[in-house]
Amino acid sequence: MKDNYKVGIIGATGMVGQRFITLLHDHPWYTIEVLAASPRSAGKTYKEAVGAKWAMDEEIPKSVEDMIVMNATDDVDKIAGMVDFVFCAVDMKKDEIKALEERYAKAECPVVSNNSAHRHTEDVPMIIPEINPEHLEIIPSQRERLGTKRGFIAVKSNCSLQSYLPAMAVVNAKYPIDHALVTTYQAISGAGKTFNTWPEMVDNLIPYIGGEEMKSEVEPNKVLGKVEGNKIVPSDALSIECQTYRVPVSNGHTAAIFFSFKDRENIPSVEEIENMWREYKGVPQQLELPHAPKQFIYVYTEAEAPDQPQIKTAREIDGGMAISCGRLRKSTQYDYKMVSMSHNTLRGAAGGAVLLAELLTAKGYMD
Ligand SMILES: NC(=O)c1ccc[n+]([C@@H]2O[C@H](COP(=O)([O-])OP(=O)(O)OC[C@H]3O[C@@H](n4cnc5c(N)ncnc54)[C@H](OP(=O)(O)O)[C@@H]3O)[C@@H](O)[C@H]2O)c1
Repeated sequence: MKDNYKVGIIGATGMVGQRFITLLHDHPWYTIEVLAASPRSAGKTYKEAVGAKWAMDEEIPKSVEDMIVMNATDDVDKIAGMVDFVFCAVDMKKDEIKALEERYAKAECPVVSNNSAHRHTEDVPMIIPEINPEHLEIIPSQRERLGTKRGFIAVKSNCSLQSYLPAMAVVNAKYPIDHALVTTYQAISGAGKTFNTWPEMVDNLIPYIGGEEMKSEVEPNKVLGKVEGNKIVPSDALSIECQTYRVPVSNGHTAAIFFSFKDRENIPSVEEIENMWREYKGVPQQLELPHAPKQFIYVYTEAEAPDQPQIKTAREIDGGMAISCGRLRKSTQYDYKMVSMSHNTLRGAAGGAVLLAELLTAKGYMD
């Protein structure tokens, strides 16, 4: 590992890009070297380009406000020559994002992506760092396909998944889960919006988020899959059905989950499941990565805190990088039901990508 890595943020003016800036401007390993966005923003100072779209609680960091925004699509080779790797979170058509990320990778610039475009590319790892860090082993195969020495693409999963899949995956590793019914209650920042830019969401609920139910049903099986040869083979063991709602919450996705185990003779108790969550430590905790939450999964018991996890109590725990679970109890139609939540633009988006980059850096993939 080097002492310091220069990073670029592609899509720096967007909701996720702004989060990257707040997480990276004082990062112990990384220095923000490049900010890039659409041709509309290119050539302006960051402060001018982001303007009233700045949606973070804190001010724009002084170190970036006068940086000149580069053109994310025209300046690929120039940017690749200035940084060690880029974070990417852009609002473009899926095929355009796929092509753009491959251009950066082929210019020998690793890409840590928040976009969904490459999530189903067989040799692109989709990582929740605590759950499937071993999928990074696919990177040499991807480099071979791309014809690169350094360049590759690694992605994080959909933001809503991070609110419930970690809790299920930890239990699933010891007691395989057969099927689950999930309903997600997703914050408006997940659509890149605030209440100022989406006033219709005040006092409202929309029972539809385009494409999101499919992501919640399909992506978990890639995360729970295995590297076999030059691809990641999704698991076919866990069946999830999902319904998604957009709710009037600024930040924080919540999920209500009903689930049943495969082995009808060997069902863990509530206490055993809660202890598995409390005691779980993934590779990020073992390596003490800068953005690893000290405790990955926080537990609210039904007896002590039946009204938790609430958005306002739980979303900022451990810098918004922890997952919170509660209300685990017997179900009449499934084995158990429960609630879990996480911060969608921290753990679910920019924070999850920064933690993934830290894992990649610690494992030598950024050198
Ligand atoms: N928000 C979340 O919680 C969340 C969670 C997980 C994943 N994501 C994913 O992250 C990505 C970004 O989401 P967001 O919410 O940050 O979107 P956003 O707020 O709409 O920001 C979009 C960014 O993309 C840039 N952009 C748009 N068109 C471009 C073009 N033709 N060339 C280059 N850059 C272009 C924009 O630049 P200008 O300002 O110059 O237009 C802006 O920087 C999406 O793929 C989204 O699905 C979001």
